[in-house]
Amino acid sequence: MANRELPTGRRIAPSILAADYARLGDALGEVLDAGARVLHVDVMDGHFVPPITIGPLIVAAIRELADSAGAVLDVHLMVERPERQIADFARAGADVITVHCEATAHVHRVIESIREAGALAGVALNPGTPVEALAEVAADVDLALCMSVNPGWGGQTFIPFSLDKIARLRTLLPYETPLEVDGGVDPRTVVACAEAGAKLFVAGSAVFGTADPAAAYRELAELAGAG
Ligand code: DX5
Ligand code: ZN
Repeated sequence: MANRELPTGRRIAPSILAADYARLGDALGEVLDAGARVLHVDVMDGHFVPPITIGPLIVAAIRELADSAGAVLDVHLMVERPERQIADFARAGADVITVHCEATAHVHRVIESIREAGALAGVALNPGTPVEALAEVAADVDLALCMSVNPGWGGQTFIPFSLDKIARLRTLLPYETPLEVDGGVDPRTVVACAEAGAKLFVAGSAVFGTADPAAAYRELAELAGAG
């Protein structure tokens, strides 16, 4: 079940997608030691997006490590009909479960079932989805996620119009609801994302794709004015 609330300030959320899975615990330990308190977990089903990545087993496997640092597991479901997966991910220890509004016909109901399962509920938008898709549920979500690349792969280039979307999403959301940006976040793009109104910055290759993930984490956090 969910354990923690999201941190209130700006935060870099290292995405484990880019980590070395043969030594996942050590890789996560490095960024947790460097101060990371949100770990982003990318779940892909081979349908909503072509790749298949990880499932609840990995969430359960890293739960204790996250707990030892007081970190939140931020699970991003890039899966069709996410309603079928929520109970398993909540049971595995997801604190936040984010679903794509493009992946379900029943986003309002899914938000409720995430909460009933004991997790915080996030809704994500693909680059091609207008921010208005979130309008009716904006007051109900615990987090909104603006994709700044088309989901499916790490290491893609940040789509510039995402900055305008972040700013417009920000005005749609209640003041206290955090806005997360995901895709192509690196030292060149993170500042503009923060200025546009994002508070959580997912970074995969810009952290784990470097020789020194802890140093890369600290640099991004510093640039974003994050903890
Ligand atoms: C992409 C995933 C991202 C990915 C980001 O579909 O949702 O979270 O890990 O990777 P980078 O930071 O390398 O763009
Ligand atoms: Zn993601």
